[in-house]
Amino acid sequence: MTELKLPFFGHGGDYNPDQWLDRPDILEEDIRLMKLAGCNLMSVGIFAWSALEPEEGHFTLDWLEGVLDRLHEAGISVFLATPSGARPAWMSQRYPEVLRVRPDGTRNLHGGRHNHCFTSPVYRRFVQRINRALAERFGKHPAVVGWHISNEYSGECHCALCQGAFRAFLKDRYGTLDALNHAWWTGFWSKTYTDWEQLHSPSPIGEESIHGLNLAWKRFVTHQTVDFIRAEAEPLRALTPNLPVTTNLMEMFGGLNYYELAAALDFASFDSYPRWGHGEAEQTALGAAFNYDWMRSLKQKPFALMESTPSQVNWHEVCKLKKPGMHVLSSLQAVAHGADTVQYFQWRKSRGASEKFHGAVVDHVGHEHTRTFRDVQAVGDLLPRLKEVLGAMPGAKAALMFDAENRWALEDCQGPRRDMRHDETVLSHYRALKRQGIDLDIIDETCSFDKYRLIAAPMLYMLRPGVGRRLEAFVRGGGTLVCSCPTGRVDEDDLCFLGGFPGPLRSILGIWAEETDALYDDERNGMRTADGRVYTCGTLCDLIHAEGAETLATYTDDFYAGMPCVTVNRCGAGRAYYIATCPDAAFLDDFYGTIIPEASITPVVCGLPEGVQATRRGNTAFILNFSGTAAEVALPQGVDVLTGEITGGIAALPVNGYRIIRLKSKGVDAQNG
Ligand code: GAL
Repeated sequence: MTELKLPFFGHGGDYNPDQWLDRPDILEEDIRLMKLAGCNLMSVGIFAWSALEPEEGHFTLDWLEGVLDRLHEAGISVFLATPSGARPAWMSQRYPEVLRVRPDGTRNLHGGRHNHCFTSPVYRRFVQRINRALAERFGKHPAVVGWHISNEYSGECHCALCQGAFRAFLKDRYGTLDALNHAWWTGFWSKTYTDWEQLHSPSPIGEESIHGLNLAWKRFVTHQTVDFIRAEAEPLRALTPNLPVTTNLMEMFGGLNYYELAAALDFASFDSYPRWGHGEAEQTALGAAFNYDWMRSLKQKPFALMESTPSQVNWHEVCKLKKPGMHVLSSLQAVAHGADTVQYFQWRKSRGASEKFHGAVVDHVGHEHTRTFRDVQAVGDLLPRLKEVLGAMPGAKAALMFDAENRWALEDCQGPRRDMRHDETVLSHYRALKRQGIDLDIIDETCSFDKYRLIAAPMLYMLRPGVGRRLEAFVRGGGTLVCSCPTGRVDEDDLCFLGGFPGPLRSILGIWAEETDALYDDERNGMRTADGRVYTCGTLCDLIHAEGAETLATYTDDFYAGMPCVTVNRCGAGRAYYIATCPDAAFLDDFYGTIIPEASITPVVCGLPEGVQATRRGNTAFILNFSGTAAEVALPQGVDVLTGEITGGIAALPVNGYRIIRLKSKGVDAQNG
């Protein structure tokens, strides 16, 4: 793998000179404005296929060379894009197989973007050909520091080629139809397959009731996308082995298993569009923080913030402007969590088509005298002063499980509720953990557990092979594990574990979950702790029996009042907690407030006020005020990186204020990446 090693914090954005080739004056003005905004890194040529190959086999790359030369002269580096996110019309017209087919068998018309078949040999051939042309011509260009391949891979195709590839994938996975039929429990409703040709992707006009099939299809979509990515990157890796390859990933995206996809990339990059200004800033900030922690954890390396908006987007239901101070604060938030770049969609607003009113550094007015431009300049001034954190990692000792395959299985599960609230539950644990001022990694079932002292695994409904054993070893070795309802129900094919839930985790958790009650959205039960505190909970309530575990709290209501709802099982050198329900925030705050010190995890900052976030990169702490009001924080001992002031006492943070502190002591958890 080739590392992304920038000698500076990257600052810039998606740059589309291909839309302005008839306006050399504008292209020249762009360079002046980029320098003025402190920009040093542009992503060039995303969606530029029509300008690069206007007719089949006829390449027009001179304009791009001119742009790269001008950027380089101005000291600006480039992530060079491959254009496969959208195709020229000539290709769809001449080779309709490149167009995607829907689950009902209808082939799409030409249009939009991301509208291509990942299996089509024709599409793959065209993509490899243009990528080779780009790599041959620009692979050694001094401006180019990495490849931005395609754009936000997503979606699926159900054409005959994809059905064939799906069957091959299934043969490889299951070997025989007997094994497949057993794994998918096809005796139910007479679904037994007797010929591989009978297998077809899930469809609303066909089969959707076999959960094993639905899961296998989702796995295949990731497999096929990753296969396409590897094919797309092949000429780039062959011709430019020194240039790292990335593609931009999306917020909470569930269409692909990003842990598998990340393995095909050299570094992760991310598009971040939080709904600032809608609802509580704190909640929005937590969602953004979760995504950044996820992106950094995918490769356990710093990532690129590939896209964010410098002002508003054009696709939220209501597109709010960023309030004064929010642009700098939200950009710093990405850096605090591991971003080595701050980039925007987009550099300049397009004149026409669907994104002309999306925020950009340069507005249609065309000059620098705008609030947005000044905000971007402020980030451009700040980033070079943070060079000491470039490349550094937080060294988190706690991890939160967010497993794509588990999420798919739970979302497809029929009963005991339609919406199990998986994402809300994971985020509720994330919120409570972050309230304790600690750093967190986001992991999946395949990640190593070795470096953590605490793993929170809410709603780990599906346990893939060996995961129960690995979690047990983690606890016996001294780790703290937190599981919550519904845990350990099915195996990797969505077959229920026999012999009592939570299946392979039954002995380490020391409980048996006999039944699960589901609650309506407006229903609540209560939780009473052994020392008499009372909290509320909802969504799901497991009726559990302690089998060796100690009961820490019991339900207060319904016919199961008095049954355990929180337990701990001490095993070997560690502890395994089971939360049998979905508690409201007050419980999770107090719960993690107790068990984090027990697990010997040192917070970056103690006693954080609501809405203030603290994270650490290497030896530098970032304290960011998203509370929407002024706040007082007990700063850690150290030196303010921006002012040189010695810190240690209580400090006032204004609305959207921040402090960046080089820590005096490294603390037990701090490490450099
Ligand atoms: C991203 C996409 C960009 C642009 C942006 C608008 O998802 O990658 O091309 O459309 O959204 O916010």
